[in-house]
Amino acid sequence: MSNNLQEADVQAADIDEYSQVHLNVFGTPLRVLDHGAGCHVWDVDGKEYLDFLAGIAVNSIGYAHPAWVKAVTEQAGKIAHTSNYFATEPQIHLAEKLITHAGAPQGSKVYFCNSGAEANEAAIKLAKLHGRTLRGALPSIGGKPARILALTNGFHGRTLGALSATWKPAIRKPFEPLVPEIEFVEAGSVDAMRAAFAQTGQGPYGKGPVAAVIMELIQGEAGVLPLDADYVAAVRALCTAHDAFMIIDEVQTGIGRTGSWFAFQREDLTHGIVPDAVSFAKGVAGGFPMGGLIVFGEKNASLFTPGSHGSTFAGNPLGASAGLATLGVIENEDLIANAEERGIQLRTALENCGNELFDTVRGRGLLNAVTLKRACAHAIVDWALAQGLIINAVRPDAIRLAPPLIVSAADIDAAVAILAKVPTDLPLD
Ligand SMILES: Cc1ncc(COP(=O)(O)O)c(C=O)c1O
Repeated sequence: MSNNLQEADVQAADIDEYSQVHLNVFGTPLRVLDHGAGCHVWDVDGKEYLDFLAGIAVNSIGYAHPAWVKAVTEQAGKIAHTSNYFATEPQIHLAEKLITHAGAPQGSKVYFCNSGAEANEAAIKLAKLHGRTLRGALPSIGGKPARILALTNGFHGRTLGALSATWKPAIRKPFEPLVPEIEFVEAGSVDAMRAAFAQTGQGPYGKGPVAAVIMELIQGEAGVLPLDADYVAAVRALCTAHDAFMIIDEVQTGIGRTGSWFAFQREDLTHGIVPDAVSFAKGVAGGFPMGGLIVFGEKNASLFTPGSHGSTFAGNPLGASAGLATLGVIENEDLIANAEERGIQLRTALENCGNELFDTVRGRGLLNAVTLKRACAHAIVDWALAQGLIINAVRPDAIRLAPPLIVSAADIDAAVAILAKVPTDLPLD
């Protein structure tokens, strides 16, 4: 038996073993990965891949960046965890940096947690506290519970609160009833949003006031769908007029991914709105599980008081030092500009690569999708993997490309050279 075959057997055995001991929520793993460096990753058979998915928009500074490894290793040798009865310097400095990069006003504050869903749980609880302060929401004087508006096609996570604001019926419906007073409004329609606000009122048909609108600016899981900037600005105006919070979910778009620190800072996505709260996770700690919420302005930030929220690992020093190292690399290596430039290069190259299967290319910075003329996205993912390129199928008719922010011009050329050759007759999903 050749060495290669023995190694292939190792991978197959690993996958079999995985399936025996893991709940089947993710399906069968495509490969068993062993290690990475930069934009490249190797499986247990030693096969190398160019990673254009980055752990789904997480590994922003690539694999095993020396500055990240140094920071996490040193922190592990000092203090890896403490309860929230105590503070650590990494969490203080990370919060300061995030507030600065978000351009959030004086008095803005951060809550740290461990994932995107948890960040949105905090956002929903914040919205609930705000809702209780609104006129017409006080049950003691015949008021009605405040509502939270979420968008069709939106994705905010799979814990019960975040799932309540997540549109996709296939993943939400099996767990209903969920958090009440969260309503879906058609994404992109100002009329629908205006109508949802207008339902607030007294009498048997009037509903409670709107506490918040929660939305992504580029609907990532729905297929990397950017919202129209006019629409986003109109939602901001409605929120302001009705004293509702505008909560932007930047779990996928944040921390440089779209070519600015946060997508809400992109004129072409929002015309320059200021949100009331921004949730983040994924890329913030370069692969360490971490998320959080930036609450804008002193008044909004004072809604949470001791006991209103928390988590054992919130602001964990290992995660915070990973986050500080990640932000440091993004700053020092000018990765925001790189995300913008490489994103333009990627979209232009894909548009001109001549593959008849490709329909449109959309996205900002390094969060992009290619829509397909045939719904064969999963077959493309398998085919690309065999060629040594990692991407994912964000819909049956769209593939997503979200490489690390350190991606080079040569990496983009290499990925597009592979994608240009995707056969046009692959099996449908
Ligand atoms: C926009 C958005 N919000 C929330 C989440 C949930 O994040 P997590 O998987 O870390 O819980 C995701 C994950 O894909 C996301 O894309």
